[in-house]
Amino acid sequence: MTDTPPVCDYEGSDYRTRFWENQGRDYEDRVERIALRRMLPPAGTTLIEIGAGFGRLANEYTGYEKVVLFDYSRSLLREAQAHLADDARFIYVAGNWYNMPFVDGLFAAMVQIRTLHHAADAPALFRELARIAQPGGHYILEFANKQNLKAMLRFGLKRQSWSPFAREPVEFAALNFDFHPRWIDEQLQAMGFAPGRRLTVSHFRIGFLKRLAPTGLLARLDSLAQWTGNWWQLAPSVFVHNAHPKQGVTAVSHTFFACPTCKTPLGEVENGRLACANPDCGQQWRVENGLYDFKEPIDQSSIINH
Ligand SMILES: C[S@@+](CC[C@H](N)C(=O)[O-])C[C@H]1O[C@@H](n2cnc3c(N)ncnc32)[C@H](O)[C@@H]1O
Repeated sequence: MTDTPPVCDYEGSDYRTRFWENQGRDYEDRVERIALRRMLPPAGTTLIEIGAGFGRLANEYTGYEKVVLFDYSRSLLREAQAHLADDARFIYVAGNWYNMPFVDGLFAAMVQIRTLHHAADAPALFRELARIAQPGGHYILEFANKQNLKAMLRFGLKRQSWSPFAREPVEFAALNFDFHPRWIDEQLQAMGFAPGRRLTVSHFRIGFLKRLAPTGLLARLDSLAQWTGNWWQLAPSVFVHNAHPKQGVTAVSHTFFACPTCKTPLGEVENGRLACANPDCGQQWRVENGLYDFKEPIDQSSIINH
């Protein structure tokens, strides 16, 4: 796992209180939920949210039998766990999306919202997702759209150096990327996904409008405008529904986790750890207070020495 791309690390971050709670983003939260409900089948077997953070959207998944909240930040997952503790369907997994700790073909539904902008290597991420996707399933992806109206105006007025029309992603701040919708489609297709319906979201993410107009009204207008997403994408946020790759396996029952390094299926938790049975690998992973931690393997030399 040495060649993995850099990660935007939210460990210990105050993301929930700094960005969401009482921060004037009810409009964004509402319109994202509208788009998600339009794309995600309401019920199913296994669902994973990739980059779930503190579990803001977790109550959208109540129709699913098993829900994995996957994130690089242990501390945000602990926040999710604190407010969802009673619901046994949720499984909290810390790890890096470039090295997913799951067996092939596991997930019937995959959701990724407000996270792709941190992916320095989106194709590598899509490759991993194609591996863990169950054929016949759904991948709902939201991404930050570089070809939005504001970016086009700023570029036209020469107040922005990068072109919103160029296909390649733009890193407008360290580890923060905007993407061209067609580039995203191409990368998804290259990994076997079939991008389909698109919804544009957050058309009215404009400070003064949000202050002047009632949130409910803006959300209703955005809800209507979302349908234009199949034809043009002027909003800063785009949701795309992807059919999972047709090729590939469906995970056999009773398998779930796999070693993120060598992908060998992992057995039962013993003494608070999951051990890889592959003799060439042998890595062990910590399971502590309901959090499956695949960020880094347990340092076995330190255990032997102490
Ligand atoms: C802006 S937050 C969004 C959280 C959540 N999706 C939401 O909308 O409330 C981005 C999340 O992506 C996670 N993330 C970034 N890079 C990651 C990686 N390589 N693997 C797993 N999670 C990652 C961060 O830890 C963070 O929780």
